Amino acid sequence: MSQAFDIAVIGAGPGGYVAAIRAAQLGFKVACIDEWSNAAGGAAPGGTCTNVGCIPSKALLQSSEHYEQAAHHFAEHGIGVKGLSMDVGTMIARKDEVVKQNNDGILYLFKKNKITFFHGRGSFVSSNDEGFELAVTGKKPESITARQVIVATGSSARALPGVPFDEVNVLSNDGALRVGATPKTLGVIGSGVIGLEMGSVWRRLGADVTILEGLPTFLGAVDQHIAKEAHKAFTKQGLKIELGVKVGEIKSTKKNVSIAYTNAKGEAQTLVVDKLIVSVGRVPNTTGLNAEAIGIKLDERGAIEVDDKCRTNVAGVWAVGDVVRGPMLAHKAEEEGVAVAERIAGQHGHVDFDLVPWVIYTSPEIAWVGKTEQQLKESGRAFKAGSFPFLANGRARALGDTTGMVKMLADAETDEILGVHIVGPMASELISEACVAMAFKASSEDIARICHAHPSLSESTKEAALAVDKRTLNF
Ligand code: FAD
Ligand code: NAI
Repeated sequence: MSQAFDIAVIGAGPGGYVAAIRAAQLGFKVACIDEWSNAAGGAAPGGTCTNVGCIPSKALLQSSEHYEQAAHHFAEHGIGVKGLSMDVGTMIARKDEVVKQNNDGILYLFKKNKITFFHGRGSFVSSNDEGFELAVTGKKPESITARQVIVATGSSARALPGVPFDEVNVLSNDGALRVGATPKTLGVIGSGVIGLEMGSVWRRLGADVTILEGLPTFLGAVDQHIAKEAHKAFTKQGLKIELGVKVGEIKSTKKNVSIAYTNAKGEAQTLVVDKLIVSVGRVPNTTGLNAEAIGIKLDERGAIEVDDKCRTNVAGVWAVGDVVRGPMLAHKAEEEGVAVAERIAGQHGHVDFDLVPWVIYTSPEIAWVGKTEQQLKESGRAFKAGSFPFLANGRARALGDTTGMVKMLADAETDEILGVHIVGPMASELISEACVAMAFKASSEDIARICHAHPSLSESTKEAALAVDKRTLNF
């Protein structure tokens, strides 16, 4: 006998579990199905983000940053550390505990919102005028029906052809987050977000890290003023980043991994490392969903095709997050999940895709929202630019972290803010002011006229706004 629901959500990552909560708040009877298991075989909702993505990577970034501070920067504060030691096992165990707290938090939220959670794989069986039949396979197979379905099955790491992840020597994001001891040498293919974050973790913990990037430009999607500053900082820290390479054969043995490649000058090279992280993008998860049973259309990348409202081609089936087009970011998935629940309830759920911020949690952090200088030039839109270096900010000097800047771009005529780009301390927090300002269509003058607390890093945002009008006060 099938259990009947108003809405079934497949996937309990940030897109799915948030959609389920919002739908329950709106009065629907909701089921959420997720197959992720922890080491003990128990349910581990939260998806990539909670289990092998945002949360564990930030836990390790924090631990490794503490170590780096103690080893290299405490002395300038007059703090001596004798016999400093580091235990990777403890760091990994702490990271696992942080993950578990988040898994448990989501299970609690399901209970609190009266959402029925199924631990197992969800797949489409059939559809009729009443809705959809879904099968849940797992320890306890179930059959459920729902009038509407939200697919939030996320994404998985993309492997290079012929180089499967063994998670011992050749690592995806999953293996990269549970290496038992610092490798002496670490190779990374792809200097995107994962490459830089995970490369930073293991460099701080003592690995000699080389990143091989196919494109000739470092962080091509980032404002190039900011990307150049970040590249300088990473190189100074000891991250070796080779751009414009062509990766050839990769051989993994018990002892090491060798990567044959051609460098930007066309010279044949071989990199031999203890471990290799492959971070060359992610692929949408649709395997096992049996989307074909009800005729859901996929695009050429294997992502579920949706319109700007997250509607698939099958009425009553919606899809959100990494499994659809757009940036693969947790907050984008959440926004879409909330909007879909509201649309099912007849409300006007809304996601502004132009205002989805990006953050790379390296040190310095990189964060941006809106258009880059290169995008504005390409589109021919006239703009004014202003930037302010953290070197001239009192709080940054007191923190001892003066790398980077805030850069603001505003329309040449109307002064509307079109983009804000930050590289430097706490960029992840500072970017929110820019998001709020841009959501309210603020001008750079609006920010320049708002009182910002002193001393604070956010004064750099105000100064960047003043710089748009060529009138910084402190630089
Ligand atoms: P997912 O989080 O992938 O969740 C999908 C869930 O669906 C999974 O639990 C999966 O097991 C389950 N599932 C799949 N198919 C089925 C099925 N048929 N039946 C049942 N369950 C199924 N983003 C940020 O915004 N900030 C960050 O700092 C950040 N850091 C990251 C670090 C790393 C190392 C990685 C890999 C990613 C990071 N991301 C970050 C990206 C972020 O994790 C994703 O954008 C986000 O998790 C997408 O959410 P989602 O709900 O679409 O999918
Ligand atoms: P990515 O798309 O960020 O970077 C992949 C990089 O690999 C690109 O620079 C690309 O040019 C390069 N590349 C691709 N094929 C290559 C090849 N054969 N040889 C050499 N270089 C090659 O992908 P990544 O780092 O795997 O991360 C996936 C996604 O996960 C991100 O795009 C982001 O959406 C999400 N993420 C977000 C984070 C955050 O918000 N802080 C953190 C980590 C991941």
